Amino acid sequence: MTLIPGDGIGPEVSEATRKVLEATGLDFDWDVQHAGTDVMDREGTPLPDRVLESIRASRTAIKGPITTPVGTGFRSVNVALRRDLDLFAAVRPSRTLPGVESRHPPLDLVVVRENTEDLYAGIEFRMGSDEMRLLRDELRTLAGFELREDAGVTVKPISVTGTRRIVRFAFDFARRDGRRKVTVGHKANIMRFSDGVFLYTAAVEAEAYPDVEFEEMQADQLALWLAWHPEDLDVLLLPNLYGDIVSDLCAGLTGGLGIAPGANLGWEYALFEPVHGSAPDIAGRGVANPTAMVLSGAMMLRHLAEPVAARAVERAVEEVLRDGSHVTRDLGGNSGTSEMADALMAHLRDLRLR
Ligand code: NAI
Ligand code: MG
Repeated sequence: MTLIPGDGIGPEVSEATRKVLEATGLDFDWDVQHAGTDVMDREGTPLPDRVLESIRASRTAIKGPITTPVGTGFRSVNVALRRDLDLFAAVRPSRTLPGVESRHPPLDLVVVRENTEDLYAGIEFRMGSDEMRLLRDELRTLAGFELREDAGVTVKPISVTGTRRIVRFAFDFARRDGRRKVTVGHKANIMRFSDGVFLYTAAVEAEAYPDVEFEEMQADQLALWLAWHPEDLDVLLLPNLYGDIVSDLCAGLTGGLGIAPGANLGWEYALFEPVHGSAPDIAGRGVANPTAMVLSGAMMLRHLAEPVAARAVERAVEEVLRDGSHVTRDLGGNSGTSEMADALMAHLRDLRLR
């Protein structure tokens, strides 16, 4: 199993997660691989080949968050991992947990986000560059579009091939997880040839799943609905950018980023990571909430066909949250990362004794 501690609060929540997962009594053969900002200074790249090689060998990885430095010329490590390993599906559950305050009735939402296409494909043209000049000329000849000279451009590709697999994935997931509805978010009215492909392909593929309701909603309407009646929604299927935004929104609906887990899945590899980032504002202080990464670990255990251990980890989380006396500050408590991890481990040991 590859373990990427990450940077910022990454090493803190990773250490907590490793200990909690080991408290299930399962044996883990961790291959710890560092990546991120510290590695960039030492090895000249934030994502050395050894990291990808390790995941290709182990097929399963869990990672802490990694900072995306702005303006260094390096691609985001997180985006690069998803693309290089073809982890085309992000699964991000947002569930109301006991003891966690929220303004809404109990929610159980899952965001399924397409992970490889859309504006995150990395096709960009820098303002003032030669390529940008050529692109302007090309667009003028092609269709009479006149881009401003001081414009930069990011391209938004969405293919039938890329969409079909994420739609099937989402509906298979809904079926397996006993869910009633998949809501597709899009702006096909404005972006007819990118979001249009997404919506059209989703509608066609959905016909193969008569037992799961198919619903489509414009992304702005979806935003309204999430603020207003989130309990009406179930599985949300979204292209890359909307999926990114809506995942954080859903995390906020159910108690914040500190408890929101995630999985990135492809045909060959699986990479589990919290939804949150490296939280530079609290890094190094031992106060980060480990729950999001611990629950990502539970998702990993389920993926590894260890449902009993996965459920035990989730139960430990529920009990520590319900009890409330060993939770971090984002949840209104005053414990640190390692105290909360210790409480989780104590519950797991209790569960094993029973
Ligand atoms: P962030 O998720 O790191 O932080 C947003 C807010 O939530 C901050 O106030 C932070 O303190 C709080 N927060 C996040 N995780 C928490 C936790 N476990 N416990 C308690 N509070 C927590 O988002 P931000 O600040 O936009 O991004 C920071 C860096 O992380 C950026 O470089 C970004 O690119 C990167 N990032 C990496 C991701 C990944 O590795 N998959 C995902 C998202 C962002
Ligand atoms: Mg995000």
